Amino acid sequence: MVILGVLASGSGTNLQSIIDAIESKKLSARINVVISDNPGAYALERAKRHGLKTEVVTKDEYPEKEAFDGKLVSILKENGVGLVILAGFMRLLSPLFVRAFPMKIMNIHPSLLPSFTGLDVQKKALDYGVKFSGCTVHFVDEGVDTGPIIIQAVLPVAANDTPETLKKRILGEEHRIYPQAIQLYSEGRLTVKGRRVTVKDGGGQEGTLENPPVCIFKDE
Ligand code: GAR
Repeated sequence: MVILGVLASGSGTNLQSIIDAIESKKLSARINVVISDNPGAYALERAKRHGLKTEVVTKDEYPEKEAFDGKLVSILKENGVGLVILAGFMRLLSPLFVRAFPMKIMNIHPSLLPSFTGLDVQKKALDYGVKFSGCTVHFVDEGVDTGPIIIQAVLPVAANDTPETLKKRILGEEHRIYPQAIQLYSEGRLTVKGRRVTVKDGGGQEGTLENPPVCIFKDE
């Protein structure tokens, strides 16, 4: 079973989907600590409601990036974390952090990477006029939203979509694929070769994730 440390800055709906998947035994993982850079993050409330340990590390306490990231790394290591989960964590990680957990950090991003990196990506996708958008779970490397891709889910963009409606629909997909990606990791089924992440099937053969639907849980 993989031990998770979750980093979240905001409302924490992805954290909630991971907690729910663990509690319903779909996801074989344990969350040892939830860390936020935002003392008011609703993610912290969600964590406390489920009896999870929380920590807050702020920019005010640690104005220097390396010191901030060093503090995060020490909390994660002290808590025996094997896989770091970025769940709406709105700070870029320094090389120091990434090197402390090589290919052991996952992020979810609300676009089909490599399109639309950074912030406000639902608006960027609409402004560009794409017909499909979606979300991406990827391992984190030293770039911004550039690490090897694990799972993507695709959604059609509707003519009357606004950034808010698109965001909501994409979030629904995020909640589906993030626990799946973590479960694949937990089962030791992910192999990273350069930029490509392959998934072993039940017999140990390298398989392909089919879309749609991306589904590894039997009852979905
Ligand atoms: C999610 O849409 C996530 O993909 C995005 O922030 C939101 C957090 O929502 N992350 C990024 O944009 C990272 N680049 P949540 O707090 O409800 O999980």
